[in-house]
Amino acid sequence: MTHSSSQQLIHPARSLKGAVRLPGDKSISHRYAMLAAIASGESRIGNYSTGADCQSTLNCIRTLGIPVHEAEGDVIIGGRGLRGLQAPGAPLDAGNSGSTIRMLSGIAAAQPFVTHIGGDESISRRPMQRIMKPLVEMGATIFAREGKFPPLEIHGGPLYPISYTLPVPSAQVKTCVLFAGLFADGVTTVKEPVRTRDHSELALREFGAEVDTEGRSVIIRGPARLEGRNLVVPGDLSSAAFFLAAALMIPGSELLIEGVGLNPTRSLLVDFLVGMGASIRVVNPARRNGEAWGDLLVSASTLRGGVIEKESTAGLIDEIPVLAVLGAVSEQGLTVRDAAELRVKESDRIASVASNLTRMGVKVETTADGFHVPGRQRFRGGQVDSFGDHRIAMAFAVAGLAADDETTIDNAQVASVSFPEFYATLASIIER
Ligand code: S3P
Repeated sequence: MTHSSSQQLIHPARSLKGAVRLPGDKSISHRYAMLAAIASGESRIGNYSTGADCQSTLNCIRTLGIPVHEAEGDVIIGGRGLRGLQAPGAPLDAGNSGSTIRMLSGIAAAQPFVTHIGGDESISRRPMQRIMKPLVEMGATIFAREGKFPPLEIHGGPLYPISYTLPVPSAQVKTCVLFAGLFADGVTTVKEPVRTRDHSELALREFGAEVDTEGRSVIIRGPARLEGRNLVVPGDLSSAAFFLAAALMIPGSELLIEGVGLNPTRSLLVDFLVGMGASIRVVNPARRNGEAWGDLLVSASTLRGGVIEKESTAGLIDEIPVLAVLGAVSEQGLTVRDAAELRVKESDRIASVASNLTRMGVKVETTADGFHVPGRQRFRGGQVDSFGDHRIAMAFAVAGLAADDETTIDNAQVASVSFPEFYATLASIIER
C-alpha cells in the first residue's frame, strides 16, 4: 500500500464547518492490543485505531497464536497469559509500523522461541539498535540486517531486570524495555532524560501491572500478572492536528473535534497552538482507562509563529510536518531545532517537508536537525509527494486546502497507515 501510486486532488476550501470524530489513538491502540495478548482472559477494545499500523499489530499477535476478532466495531482479544504465546509459523509483518516492531520486540525477547519480524521498505531503513541494546543487556540475542536494521531475528529466553537510561527520547524504546520487564524477575527501571508519552505506564496499570513513576524513572516489577480488560481508545490527537491546522488556517472555519485523547504528555500540541494565538477550547473533559479525553472547539485564527526546540521537540515530534505548513502562513514563521529524530521517521521528515513546501512555492531553509519556514507566505498549489509517509500526505492535504490553486498529492493513500478515513472526513467538512 505504501508503494501505491494513488493520487489525491485537493481543491482550495472556502472554509471548514461541522463536527468530526477521529479513529482511535494509534499509540494507545498498539499498547492495548499487545498487553491484551499477554493478559489472562478476554479483552474488548472499543474505538481501536482503523489505521494499517494497528492492524499490523493485530496480525502479529495472531501469528503468535492469539485469537483476535471484531464484534460490533470492537476488537476482542483472547489473551493467553504471560506464557501463552506460541512460536510463530511465519515471520511477523510489522508493515510500516515502527511502534509494532519496537514494542513487540520487548515481548518477543522473553519468549522461549525465535521470532523473525520485519516490514515494508520504510521500516527496513529505521534504526533498531536503540531497542537491541537494552534487550541484549537483559539477556536476549538479536540479529539484524547490517547489525541495526530490520528484519530482526530475536532469540528470546529468560530475561534479567535492568536499569536503563534512554540515550534518545523515545516512548517506543521505553515501552519495549517495560514490556520486557514484565517477564524479568525483579525490578526493571527506565530513566528518561526527556519525558515522553506515558500511555504504556497508564495501560500497564489498567491491565494490573505494578508500575511506579519516580521523577524521570519508570519502574516495573516482574514477573507481572495481567488481567484482560474492557477498554475504549480516545480519538487520535495526532490525527486531530490536521483538522486543527486546517481550521486555524482557513478564514471563517469553525470545527468541533469530538472525543480526542488529551493525555498531558501528548497535548503540548494544543498548548503550543494556543501560545501562537490559536482559538482552541477544550470542552467536556473526561477520563477513561487512565487517559484524559475532551472535545476540541477550534476556529480560524491569526497565528504568531513559534520555535520548537529542546524538550518540546519530543512532545510535538509527530505534529511537526503540519506545524511547518501552519508556520508558513503565520506572522513570524516556524523554527525547528534539536529534531534530528525527524530524519529517521517513516520518511526523512526534514527533507520531505522542505521538498513539498518548495514545490508549493513556499520558502524554507533546512539544517541537520531542523528547519526554518519564514511566515506570511502563500501556498501556490502544485504537485507534492507523500514520500510514503502518512503524516506528510495529510500535512500537505491541509496546505492544499489553503492554497491558491489545486494540489495533487502522489501516493496519497499512504494516509491509511494511521487514518484510512482521512480524505472522506476532510470532504465532509469542506465548504466551497
Ligand atoms: C510513538 C512514539 C514516537 C512517535 C510514534 C509513536 C509511540 O516515536 O513518533 O509515532 O507510540 O510510542 P519514538 O518513540 O521513536 O519517538
